[in-house]
Amino acid sequence: MSEAQAGAGLAGVVAGDSEVCSVEQGTLLYRGYTIQDMAENACFEEVAHVLLLGDKPNADQLKSFKAELNKSLVLPQGAVDLIKQIATAPSAVPMDVLRTVVSYLAHFDPDCQAIDADAEKRKSIRLTAQIATIIGHMQNVIDGRDIVAPDPSLSHAANLFNMMMGRKPSPEEEKIIDVSLILYAEHDFNASTFTGRVIAGTLSDMHGAVTGAIAALKGPLHGGANEAAMEMLKEVGIDGDPKAFMQNAFETKRKIMGFGHRVYKNGDHRAGILHKLGRAYAEKEGGDAVKWFEIGEQIQSIMETEKKIFPNVDFPCGMTYFVMGIPVPQYTPIFVAARITGWCAHIIEQHATRKLIRPLSQYTGPAERKW
Ligand code: CMC
Repeated sequence: MSEAQAGAGLAGVVAGDSEVCSVEQGTLLYRGYTIQDMAENACFEEVAHVLLLGDKPNADQLKSFKAELNKSLVLPQGAVDLIKQIATAPSAVPMDVLRTVVSYLAHFDPDCQAIDADAEKRKSIRLTAQIATIIGHMQNVIDGRDIVAPDPSLSHAANLFNMMMGRKPSPEEEKIIDVSLILYAEHDFNASTFTGRVIAGTLSDMHGAVTGAIAALKGPLHGGANEAAMEMLKEVGIDGDPKAFMQNAFETKRKIMGFGHRVYKNGDHRAGILHKLGRAYAEKEGGDAVKWFEIGEQIQSIMETEKKIFPNVDFPCGMTYFVMGIPVPQYTPIFVAARITGWCAHIIEQHATRKLIRPLSQYTGPAERKW
């Protein structure tokens, strides 16, 4: 096997140092805090503070962090007009709309071209606030209702839900969105974060790096899997036969979305946390909500028994958001609403190194020949 084949897709390659996150089979840490601890005891704003500013905030720090977030919740009018113009364009999907609007916002950010850490922290907080609002506004346009303005009295999770769904979440719904934002916030050198770091490595700006990261996250092998997993369950159907579906999937070597992981080979730390919350919500809702979970659980059991492949966080996410009534095409944008914090932490770290990322390839084309 050539050196290039051994590292195909850079599997197993350590591509740099980072203080942000540690992804191991046994633990997932954001700057030293375990994912279980944060999912149980923190809110998304605190986790965002950890990722962007380095530490768990005290009460005053959290208050001022929330105040900074709230300052940027209202989008410039041009961005609102742009969303109205493109959200229902013939080929528009929410991830692309989000990518375009984030890129557009660069032109109005006073720190756009600056790559010093202070400017980048300000931009990170602004982007974290703005992305939630973009998602909300675009869903309002898609649904043909009036734009729901951000409500600074709400938590980040409740605000996102309220703007998107046009109603305030129940305490259970707020908790699920909050925990899913925490679980999605950061994951080391995953494809979208690495994309962001490659762009930042050229000393290009944060909005450009985030725009590229959004494009990378969209793919169904990465963040797009939460939408693809639910679409797959819909294909099985609420009264369908998961066994027959899976048999056919194995025969046709079809990938089962929301399963498998490049790093985790014995299961994803985040999947069980979200599954438990989603299951409890479904049980409270009853009816079809429980049935969707039962179908998902049958697929999970077949995958684990037959293939020893475990669900990643996107599998329970798909079912959970679905039973909450969230439109499927917004699942990956919600992932962005969380991962923006991890991306920005990495972009800040990459810029501080002032180091270009530029690997080699192994040439497999024709030998030298005459023109
Ligand atoms: N369904 C069926 N078979 C699978 C799956 C799956 N979901 N995942 C891995 N396999 C098989 C694969 O076919 C291959 O088998 P063989 O060796 O016989 O050819 C083997 O397991 C190794 O898979 P791979 O695709 O070479 O592994 P990878 O590390 O390159 O890929 C992955 C990791 C996440 C891209 C892959 O597991 C996959 O495509 N999963 C489905 C998409 C998905 O859920 N993505 C979300 C990833 S995690 C969270 C996130 O980023 O959002």
